[in-house]
Amino acid sequence: MRPYELIKAKREGHSLPPDAIRTFMDGYTKGAIPDYQMSALCMAVFFKGMTAVELGAWTRAMLESGEVLDLSDIPGVKVDKHSTGGVGDKVSLSLAPLAAACGVPVPMISGRGLGHTGGTLDKLESIPGFRVDLSVADYRRMVREVGACLIGQTATLAPADKKLYALRDVTATVDCIPLIASSIMSKKMAEGIDALVLDVKTGSGAFMKRQEDAAALARTMIGIGAEMGKKVVALITDMDQPLGSAVGNSLEVMEAVDMLGGCAPADYTEATLALTAEMLVLGKVAKDEQEARGQLQEAIRSGRAVKKLEEIVRWQHGDPVAVTDYARLPRARGVVDLAAPADGVVTGIDSEAVGLAAMALGAGRERTDSVIDPGVGFLLRKKVGDRVRAGEPLVQVHFNDDAKLEDVKRRVLAAYRFGPSAPVPRPLVLQRLQ
Ligand code: URA
Repeated sequence: MRPYELIKAKREGHSLPPDAIRTFMDGYTKGAIPDYQMSALCMAVFFKGMTAVELGAWTRAMLESGEVLDLSDIPGVKVDKHSTGGVGDKVSLSLAPLAAACGVPVPMISGRGLGHTGGTLDKLESIPGFRVDLSVADYRRMVREVGACLIGQTATLAPADKKLYALRDVTATVDCIPLIASSIMSKKMAEGIDALVLDVKTGSGAFMKRQEDAAALARTMIGIGAEMGKKVVALITDMDQPLGSAVGNSLEVMEAVDMLGGCAPADYTEATLALTAEMLVLGKVAKDEQEARGQLQEAIRSGRAVKKLEEIVRWQHGDPVAVTDYARLPRARGVVDLAAPADGVVTGIDSEAVGLAAMALGAGRERTDSVIDPGVGFLLRKKVGDRVRAGEPLVQVHFNDDAKLEDVKRRVLAAYRFGPSAPVPRPLVLQRLQ
């Protein structure tokens, strides 16, 4: 099929033959098919969707556009976790060492923050010396010898996605479930994993604002996994308020270490335990969730989880002492408390608004080339359901630039909603799909 015919067939709602999808994707990756034809096809997919067979072929073509790592010589079931992104989402920082401490090898390729959401790589890089640009050989060695490695996307993994994502970004075709699902799964499948846990977030700070859209995305990714012979479990989790207390890179590292020591906010702790327990079951080191949770608690109680994080940090050239001596992490120059304006109960916190305020403070990126300030951010002293008194500290703001402070304080305060009584508590894990 010529590119024109393929675009027209999709525009008319026909399903495309897998080999034609493959040829089109290969041509696009090599530059033989121009951006305008790929953007027309993406727009046709946006309106007409793809069948499971088409989506499998589309994802496989993206996956095989580059190197597909083979970790089959490393013992154990290799399991990773992917989150669709949120505000205060530092789960990977605690989940990877916990899973590794319990015997599940975790090959993790993560991303950077953009807009209101943070990125695991930026958080890790706030640990002095920490490097996320290890070679594939070092990545393999760490997965084998340490049990976990957290690096950034390499140029050789799923290059079609890199090119396509940039194109979708400027052609209004990002928010399309089959295109999102294939983009995420092609990158994850290139890592060399055997199984995957998905944290699909929903709520004010999430990509998918409505739970039914989050579930549809999760089901699509599970379907792609099945087509590729990989077991995928998805948890739909709440992002209607930021996760935990800390928002900002080094503040989130501290909260992650607190979690591994057993003393972090309940929502963040539950997110980590629920997702890691799924990894332990998929990794065949626990027979069910209850047994997995017992193993995780033991790794926390014994100190093995914190030790595993120190080991990861040391192997990735970071300062392992910073894991327990927070004075070695970057800190902001100024710290001020933002006071509650009146007596009442916190009934909502707009996660996206908090994420954008953190970005304005310097904790996040407005553009892909923006420079991050690792020490700045917020500690949310009050979360949804908490009672507050007028003048009581609501949010602690860690800042470096006085000129930004007043605007940021105004924005964070505007993100809070208050009422006379607490709303019905929303569970953190809203749904489980497999
Ligand atoms: N994240 C991705 O990796 N790809 C998308 O298409 C959207 C979010």
